[in-house]
Amino acid sequence: MAITRAKYGAEAHKNDVGALPTAFPRTMGPNCMKYLQEIVDSGLMCNMTERFEQAFAREIGMKHCIATPGCTPALHVLAAAFPFKPGDEIIVSPITDYGTLLGVIDQNYIPVFADTAPGTVNMSAETIEPCITDRTRAILAVHKTGLICDMDPINALAEKHGLIVYEDACQAVFGEYKGRYAGTLGKAAGFSFDSEKTMGSDVGGCVVTNDDDLAERTRFIGQSRGAQMRPHFGRLHTELGFAYRMPLCTAAVSLAQLELIKDQVAQRDKMIRLLSEKLGEIPGITPLPIPDYQNVYSCWMVGVSLAPKAFRCSTEEFADQLAKAGIPGAGLGKYYLMPEALTFLQENAQQKIYPYSMPPASREYRYDERTCPTAHAFLETWVRWSTFCERYTEDDCELAAGIFRKVADQNRV
Ligand SMILES: Cc1ncc(COP(=O)(O)O)c(C=O)c1O
Repeated sequence: MAITRAKYGAEAHKNDVGALPTAFPRTMGPNCMKYLQEIVDSGLMCNMTERFEQAFAREIGMKHCIATPGCTPALHVLAAAFPFKPGDEIIVSPITDYGTLLGVIDQNYIPVFADTAPGTVNMSAETIEPCITDRTRAILAVHKTGLICDMDPINALAEKHGLIVYEDACQAVFGEYKGRYAGTLGKAAGFSFDSEKTMGSDVGGCVVTNDDDLAERTRFIGQSRGAQMRPHFGRLHTELGFAYRMPLCTAAVSLAQLELIKDQVAQRDKMIRLLSEKLGEIPGITPLPIPDYQNVYSCWMVGVSLAPKAFRCSTEEFADQLAKAGIPGAGLGKYYLMPEALTFLQENAQQKIYPYSMPPASREYRYDERTCPTAHAFLETWVRWSTFCERYTEDDCELAAGIFRKVADQNRV
């Protein structure tokens, strides 16, 4: 059967057109060509990746940054670097991207999806707590759209149960929680610098941590392919490792983009607050609430909820009308519900394929749209639009709200 393969990066945004700014073509840091030229001039000998790692670690305020070819590999390496065993449970946000989960699943850990807190896209300490069992080893918190999970109560809960907390900070780069950056709030974090992400640098990503041993293990497993140099022999592979090094050219682009990012995030923060205010004035439309603890919202994606029964049309029709009226890439967010979207996981659990066989699984697991009912219900009436971007002005926010108002009014019951 012919399938339509999913697309990523710039290719996925080719058809994003409308009356509002689109993320592509991306704004490129002025030093981009200079850094790329250095690589060419050095005959691939320059230490661009190391320079990027040092610069990112300095800007984010963490001791170590290990650059990778994306966040999917970053979180894959972290999953492998942690001392967990097949069948161990990792509590994860249900509304996220596949990249959050590959590492957990590939290491034969069992993802346990904590439901989201009502009215938002993130899990909370309250929704995580009932998921903790004697097999739980870690909590992987995702800051969806750039909204940061309430990390203090999550960390307190984790401490009580002896769990590791780590973050998927892909969508929240340089966002701030109580004055601290997303990605600095747990033991380690993964970032993405994919071309469509807030710090768009083609493919790219990194791990950050303050833990020296974890940083060393991340490099050993993620970049040295689990190989040690043994005298009189050569490379000895003592662990299953990966070849996840960030390419020099990605590092050059990432370094140039890093020089712009903080100003861009400040603009995104200002504009998403204004836009949310304007959208919130439209009856039947509720933008994602921005918690008081979030002092900088590094917004990657805009999303609003439609009040149930307020409109004659379905959520999908509403989104289609928005897209036609000029909101680029307006569409549904249902596919972010991982227990429903990962059909292979459902099958593995149902058929008890390792690690769902018993042991190492300690109980039955079920993944479908009923796994996290709050998240599922929330996404049924949630419309999101493509990568928000730093080019929004006050006029654009006015225009976007005007389009929403028009579509809402023409569908109102
Ligand atoms: C929350 C989240 N996690 C992980 C990823 C994967 O990142 P990458 O594309 O850099 O591998 C993404 C990308 O869409 C994401 O949004």
